[in-house]
Amino acid sequence: MAERPVMGINGQWPLPTLNFTKGDRVIATVHNQLGNQSTSMHFHGLFQNGTNDMDGPVGVTQCGIPPGSSFIYNFTIEQPGTYWYHSHTRGQYPDGLRGQFLVHDPDSPYIGQYDEEIAITLSDWYHDEMPGLLSHFISVANPTGAEPVPKSALMSDTQNLSVAVQPGKTYLFRMTNMGAFAGQYFWIEGHTMRVVEVDGVHTEPAETSMIYLTAAQRYSFMVTMKDNFEGNFAMVGSMDTDLFDALPDGLNTNVTGWLVYDDAAEKPESALIDAFEPFDDYTLVPQDGLEIYDHVDHSIKLDMKMDNLGDGANYAFFNDITYVEPIVPTLYSVLSTGANASNPTVYGVNTNSFVLEKGQVVEIVLNNDDAGKHPFHLHGHNFQVVWRSEENDGFWNPDNTSAIESFPRKPMRRDVVMVNPQGNFVIRFKADNPGVWLFHCHIDWHTASGLIATMIEAPLELQSSMKIPADHYEVCHDSGTPTAGNAAGNTVDALDLTGQHKSPAPLPAGFTARGIVALVFSCLSAFIGMAVIAWYGAAPIAVRKTSVAAGKVATN
Ligand code: C2O
Repeated sequence: MAERPVMGINGQWPLPTLNFTKGDRVIATVHNQLGNQSTSMHFHGLFQNGTNDMDGPVGVTQCGIPPGSSFIYNFTIEQPGTYWYHSHTRGQYPDGLRGQFLVHDPDSPYIGQYDEEIAITLSDWYHDEMPGLLSHFISVANPTGAEPVPKSALMSDTQNLSVAVQPGKTYLFRMTNMGAFAGQYFWIEGHTMRVVEVDGVHTEPAETSMIYLTAAQRYSFMVTMKDNFEGNFAMVGSMDTDLFDALPDGLNTNVTGWLVYDDAAEKPESALIDAFEPFDDYTLVPQDGLEIYDHVDHSIKLDMKMDNLGDGANYAFFNDITYVEPIVPTLYSVLSTGANASNPTVYGVNTNSFVLEKGQVVEIVLNNDDAGKHPFHLHGHNFQVVWRSEENDGFWNPDNTSAIESFPRKPMRRDVVMVNPQGNFVIRFKADNPGVWLFHCHIDWHTASGLIATMIEAPLELQSSMKIPADHYEVCHDSGTPTAGNAAGNTVDALDLTGQHKSPAPLPAGFTARGIVALVFSCLSAFIGMAVIAWYGAAPIAVRKTSVAAGKVATN
């Protein structure tokens, strides 16, 4: 890897794996020392039930923390399992603000079945910083919306990772894909994995020799080591090149590490494989046996596509709307608009807001009108995956009774699920968590290009239960962000959205993306040579009230 600074915390990169026990209270003080970017922190997969204001997405549950300001995340962890923490400010976590967050449970159903835990992350790495990559990605110079391709795959933020193991022992691996973009296949040569958790949900054990983790997905699996063995075994993460529009020459899409039984023995190269045949997570069964919610109160249909707008750049859309951050963070609009808070209009034309009532069983039907795979994440919940179509099956047909009859009795639950290219899925969850929760594609490029919807859950109840701490309003003040009124900041008439943030206008009639391509080729030379490398400091985060100083971080 090129020597360059990255974003870190407490003078440290990679970010540490944080370990907790169920029931712990976390008090994390984030002091932003990035110098030239605001930030925020999200604890991915935690429901934050009762603490929606600690969820982290900027423009949704808080204002961005400007350079020099501090913000305290204070919440209790009720869920065991494998999570992660990452910046939830535009395009920031791929620059390094991402780490694993593990919650241990003395009452886990699998306790006693393994000897030790091994935490491993997978990720992708761009050798350039996100601000520059993003401004090219969403621009007239990239009308097809081709995502930048990572330069390397990483395993626990490095390559050639060695993990010492002992013969005969059983390990619980906890694995997170913290990537910006690439899903990864993962396998361990000569060993079988027994999957027991996905995204914080314990599952009935399921054996496999290969798993696939989209960006933001997690798996726990048990692996028993061979008896009396003295060699070493390769374990491989392999980026899913289906996602890449182009395969740059010389790109190594794999990252290899080893289970090391014997440090003196050779570490073999990974063997070639014929095909990727990962475990199908749709077949997993939750260990708690929760049955399908078979009565739906509120069904939401989201048709997604990629398209160009009038500025010539490529955006991502749900139901023809691309997400644009409102002037007032949505949670603050909920709290300041009285009875109007139940009217989705209040939250602006570009937020894809849906108001849910307490206790409803909510269904999201996702239709993918795009040739790519997309991993969708819902904040504040996990969901039952009741249906996932194959590739090219088109939109979900609610009259397809044979599909409906094939819904699993006890569907897999998780908080990130992948839709197949030109396919669909149907997920269900119970609205048991008042708050403002994003639903978005976790490919960071697509989050930035607007593939986001907003679930406004039980807004009137939220008004009576939520108290925002003063330091949350202070960062808004520091950054000049209004904290009351509708999406446009109107505190008098909640239904007057004059001045709200909007996406660029549609392309003029008759003007096609192809026209833009021609335009771009003629301008391209102007863009070459404009890459700029910015320098950042580090953002400290102190967990459990430990305060640590910050500094610049450089990697080799
Ligand atoms: Cu990993 Cu919106 O989150």
